[in-house]
Amino acid sequence: MSPAPATAEEIRDVNARYHDGAAADYDAKWGIDFGEIGRTQVLGKLRKALDGRLRSFERGLELGAGTGYFSLNLLQAGVITDATCTDISPGMVDTLAANAQRLGLDVDARVADAEALPFDDESFDLVLGHAVLHHLPDLDQAWREIHRVLRPGGVAVFAGEPSHYGDRIASVPKRAATHAAPAWRRIMRAHPAREGHQDGGAANHQLESKVDVHAFTPEQLSAGARAADFGDVRVRGEELLANWFGWANRALEATADPETVPWAWKMYAFRGYVGLQHLDRVLLEPRLPPAMFYNLMITAEKAPA
Ligand SMILES: C[S@@+](CC[C@H](N)C(=O)[O-])C[C@H]1O[C@@H](n2cnc3c(N)ncnc32)[C@H](O)[C@@H]1O
Repeated sequence: MSPAPATAEEIRDVNARYHDGAAADYDAKWGIDFGEIGRTQVLGKLRKALDGRLRSFERGLELGAGTGYFSLNLLQAGVITDATCTDISPGMVDTLAANAQRLGLDVDARVADAEALPFDDESFDLVLGHAVLHHLPDLDQAWREIHRVLRPGGVAVFAGEPSHYGDRIASVPKRAATHAAPAWRRIMRAHPAREGHQDGGAANHQLESKVDVHAFTPEQLSAGARAADFGDVRVRGEELLANWFGWANRALEATADPETVPWAWKMYAFRGYVGLQHLDRVLLEPRLPPAMFYNLMITAEKAPA
């Protein structure tokens, strides 16, 4: 008999606990950068979401901000003047606050559920998130909250959401890489990963399969925003070749002790990823339907007063 589906409360609880356990190593695991590389990536995504017209915002609110990848890079680039960062995981909020302090940035960082935002109506010009919507049990409620806290004329941007189709095709390079991992480690002279060196150990590893609750078609992703009364809603697809390459490499690297993976391999993996991202952007994204890509991004504008 298959297990009963998790309740909304269980999903929130598992997300908080899993991400608490993952917080300390999160930046290293995902290669999160707060320098030139990170800024270029984040600005590129926001520019795409805004139809190529990057502009600045007075007050930004990020949901599921994690360690601060988006907001801290946008603050450094001067795209957001004032940043409020929220996450359901206290561990992530602590890591974000430490990152902000190290970078000399002033941020209001707090624990908050995206479905119950502790902010007044019409407080923000931009509400954003990266890889967060697919963790939320009640998306319609989250969109109502996003609409409520946005000022008239404000904009919501969420990127890095797994597409239904992309989620399935990403499993192919992941499986292939897992088979090839022992030979790859021999060639690289890399040692096998130490038990539980990432994501907070074996107990946390068990929670991993329970934190993702959605993969979207473009229609499913936009439904909540439309129901919450956003006027202009657009969904784009991004990354196809880059994700195949990235997931295969990540699956290989996950089997090795990171300190023994050669620098030359890391450079090859990073440069290859960026090169394929470029190909995706100029060749595939303008030609293929959003549903074909691994990631979806959504832009929703609240009608002006
Ligand atoms: C995949 S991580 C992405 C983190 C960050 N945005 C980034 O791109 O690096 C998803 C984040 O969403 C947070 N999250 C999950 N459920 C949430 C909820 N109901 N409300 C707010 N944040 C949530 C998690 O704690 C985690 O930090």
